[in-house]
Amino acid sequence: MGNCWPSAARVDNKSFSTNRTSTPGTSKNISSGGEFSGSSVGGDSLLSGTSGIRDFSFPNGQILPTPNLRIYSFSELKSATKNFKNDTVLGEGGFGKVYKGVIDDKNNGGGQVVAVKKLNPESMQGVEEWQSEVDFLGRLSHPNLVKLLGYCLEDQELLLVYEYMQKGSLENHIFRKGSFQPLTWGARLRIILGAARGLAFLHSAEKEIIYRDFKASNILLDGNYIPKLSDFGLARHGPEGSASHVTTRVIGTYGYAAPEYVSTGHLYVKSDVYGFGVVLLEMMTGLRALDPNRPTGQHNLVDWLKPSLTDRRKLKRIMDPRLEGQYSVKGAIQAAELTLKCLGTEPRMRPPMKEVVESLEQIEALKGRTTKESTTSMHTRHVHHHTHHRSPLHPKYGSTSTNTVAQTLK
Ligand SMILES: Nc1ncnc2c1ncn2[C@@H]1O[C@H](COP(=O)(O)OP(=O)(O)OP(=O)(O)O)[C@@H](O)[C@H]1O
Ligand SMILES: [Mg+2]
Repeated sequence: MGNCWPSAARVDNKSFSTNRTSTPGTSKNISSGGEFSGSSVGGDSLLSGTSGIRDFSFPNGQILPTPNLRIYSFSELKSATKNFKNDTVLGEGGFGKVYKGVIDDKNNGGGQVVAVKKLNPESMQGVEEWQSEVDFLGRLSHPNLVKLLGYCLEDQELLLVYEYMQKGSLENHIFRKGSFQPLTWGARLRIILGAARGLAFLHSAEKEIIYRDFKASNILLDGNYIPKLSDFGLARHGPEGSASHVTTRVIGTYGYAAPEYVSTGHLYVKSDVYGFGVVLLEMMTGLRALDPNRPTGQHNLVDWLKPSLTDRRKLKRIMDPRLEGQYSVKGAIQAAELTLKCLGTEPRMRPPMKEVVESLEQIEALKGRTTKESTTSMHTRHVHHHTHHRSPLHPKYGSTSTNTVAQTLK
């Protein structure tokens, strides 16, 4: 089984923008005159209603009428992160760096550990994404959505303060080697199921919310490996009335974005389901959505491996060898069937997220071959050895990979 894996080095998936005139290097540039509705902090123009949820299967989720956020001063965040010291960096994305910080909170008997995202002044995606994050995430509450605690808006400084997610991103755990033990099949299923619940919650809102950036790096894990979706900078409302889609500039991440969206800019709620299918395929195979260092014909994971999902023998070969002995054949087949549905070429062929959640619950209920399972596996026999190269298509992410920095803090 091990020898069917390409030995080529992997690279990160990249963000893209079709707006070629935008500042090079920004991952998700927003061009002028964009789609943003221009709501103000604390306003409720992005989310309607007070409860906002039309589906009662989300007892733990709610949409607040107004963002419930604390306003932090810049000096407070500066001291929380030791003046944004390099060794507090948890990672870096298109918006800027993310720092680990400790907020002095004498009333609560000590410091509160937080993650502080600081806008890089050169980032073109900044202000609008920042605003969208505040407006959406500031009002959304669900166990599988990361908690935005507050923000800072002072002079040219834009910062966001989140709950600290101790285990970092799912991307780190699946693709990074080194100190990370591979996640077991059971843990992968639990994580992807939680992420599916988060997405289903967004889609269940009275005014549906399209997340638009579903990918492994945006699924963060808390100390108990509970997954939470982060990054609502690209989120937007779904179509109104009888419309099936909204038309937007194409913005998102290569390898995860749905084909109809990339080719036409038509964004459906089901475009999120495609991105979900890509992450599901990544979980099953342990391979990145996009990797230009794989041999020709294998760069795009979906194009390369989708045909294998219908063939039992091939399926066994494409499963991550680090999972060997952990999953039942039935579980793998059902996961492959679900992945195929999510990756349907046309949006209407893809299942709604609620159905995806139900299917994953069924797969999770099938006990794997191993009876006792921990979150990480000690199976390292088959680990592929890859070097990690950032893609030239995403120059913002320099060779000093942000997530490599993150490892040193954990
Ligand atoms: N709340 C948090 N707690 C702990 N680590 C975090 C938190 N938020 C972000 N990080 C770390 O910072 C990294 C960078 O996050 P960020 O969202 O800025 O970029 P990204 O998701 O990699 O790329 P993109 O800009 O395309 O979304 C994450 O992958 C994660 O490792
Ligand atoms: Mg992110």
